[in-house]
Amino acid sequence: MGKRGIVIAIDGPAGSGKSTTARCVASRLGYLYLDTGAMYRALGWSLIRKGLSPDDEAAAAGTAAALTFDFRLEGGGQRVLVNGEDATGAIRSSEVSDAASRVAVHPAVRNILVARQQELGLEGGIVLEGRDTGTAVFPKAELKVFLVADVAERARRRHRELLSCGVAADLDVLMGQIRERDARDKATQRRSGSWPASDAITVDTTGLNIDAQVARVVELARECGI
Ligand code: DC
Repeated sequence: MGKRGIVIAIDGPAGSGKSTTARCVASRLGYLYLDTGAMYRALGWSLIRKGLSPDDEAAAAGTAAALTFDFRLEGGGQRVLVNGEDATGAIRSSEVSDAASRVAVHPAVRNILVARQQELGLEGGIVLEGRDTGTAVFPKAELKVFLVADVAERARRRHRELLSCGVAADLDVLMGQIRERDARDKATQRRSGSWPASDAITVDTTGLNIDAQVARVVELARECGI
C-alpha cells in the first residue's frame, strides 16, 4: 500500500458508469480521482484546435508531451484545465470523443500519458478510471474493477447525459457510435496489454443504480483491508 492508501483501477467501455462510480468512490474514501480518458480527450481537443489530425502520431505525441493538466473536483463534478484553459465541456463533444479514440491508438501517445498517470498515482490513495489503468498503468493495483453494461443501456445513459447538457441526440445514432468506439478501443487495448486484467473483478452495472455501483466498489476496497 502506498503512503496515501491503495490504488483502485476501474476500467470498462464507454458508458459503463466508470466516471461517476470512480468519482464517488474516491470521495467516499477521501482518495484522489483520476479520469485518464479526460487526458486522451484533452489531447484530441488540442489537436483539433491546432488543425492537426488525430491520426498523425508524431503531431499527437509532440502535442501530448507539451500538455499540462489540472483536474479540480467541484460540486460533485470535475473541472478540467488544459494548459490553463477550461476545457470541461468542450472535451465531451462527439467530435472530441472520436478524436480521443483516434489519438489513443498511437503507442507514442500512450507512453507519454501512461507515464503521467503513473506519476500521479505513485503514492497510492487514488482511484483511476479508464481502459488500461489495471493493466498498463498500475498492473499491481491492489484493487482492479472492470465495469460492464449492455450497449443499449450505455446508449441510454449517454443520451440522458447529453440531454441534461441541452444537446439533442438520436438514440440509434449513439448506439452506432458506441459500437464503433468499442471496436476501436478494444483493438487498442488488446495491442497495449491484456484487457481486462486477468485479476480484475467484473461488475455488471446494467440495471444497477449509481449508489449500488459505488457501494459494491467500496465494499471491494474494504475487503482489501483499508
Ligand atoms: O473513457 P472516455 O470515453 O472518456 O475515453 C476517451 C477515449 O480515450 C476512449 O476512446 C478510449 C480512450 N482511452 C484509452 O484508450 N485509455 C484510457 N486509459 C482512457 C481512455
